[in-house]
Amino acid sequence: MDWGMKNRLARIIKPDTGRTVMLAVDHGYFLGPITKLEDPRKTIEPLLPYADAIMLTRGVLRSSVDPNTSTPIVLRVSGGQSIIGPSLANEEIITCMKEAVRLNVAAVAFSIYIGTEYEHQTLINLSKLIDEGEEYGIPVLAVTAVGKELEKRDARFLSLACRIAAELGAKFIKTYYCENFEKVVNSCPVPLVIAGGPKLETERDVFQLTYDAIQKGAVGVDMGRNIWQSDHPIAMIQAIRHIVHKNASVKEAEDLFNSLKTK
Ligand code: 5RP
Repeated sequence: MDWGMKNRLARIIKPDTGRTVMLAVDHGYFLGPITKLEDPRKTIEPLLPYADAIMLTRGVLRSSVDPNTSTPIVLRVSGGQSIIGPSLANEEIITCMKEAVRLNVAAVAFSIYIGTEYEHQTLINLSKLIDEGEEYGIPVLAVTAVGKELEKRDARFLSLACRIAAELGAKFIKTYYCENFEKVVNSCPVPLVIAGGPKLETERDVFQLTYDAIQKGAVGVDMGRNIWQSDHPIAMIQAIRHIVHKNASVKEAEDLFNSLKTK
């Protein structure tokens, strides 16, 4: 791996812990203005200092993030569908690598839809993006999306999807936590981060999800809704950091969250 690729990855997955807390705010590219993401700048600004990286589209980056930030950017570059369209899986490249270079990003993110009618399209486009990423020294984060057609997020499916993405050259992968998650980790040769998914019932559920994923070998999270849809987002991201970077327990994270939320 060339110096540039290593340096960009090191900006995201911190060398001192080998972990990362990425803040995901790319949801609008197909969900539109979802709850608590109606004003991206308002959502992002207070959380940016606590994020190891932020995942977003070029439109939100240019319109809603201060270019003076030192927080690394992971640019969402797949899309072209919407929640009301015929298929969430019908994604293609929506931002070229030259634009990613222009925006000084640390990585680009691209979803694959294994098991859907758009499997081939998304895998071929992932491969083309990785070719360009190797040329410019920009790592590709593959996102193992699960189309509506495939609600099964079990270890068998996620192991398949993560391994295929890694075989095609993704440098790290965002997937979902599942039962027997260690099987997904142990069959994937590149680092895995987990998405949080739709907002969970309680903060403790989020800490348990994060803790379990780290214990089973994830290098961190790329989390959105369970942070910024929380009543106390800043306390939330700090508690998640406590687990990811300090190996805190669920209870320690909960105690930190409760001590911070009143501030
Ligand atoms: C949306 C995404 C999000 O980046 C990903 O799902 C992480 O966000 P959340 O924790 O809210 O699931 O890819 O398509």
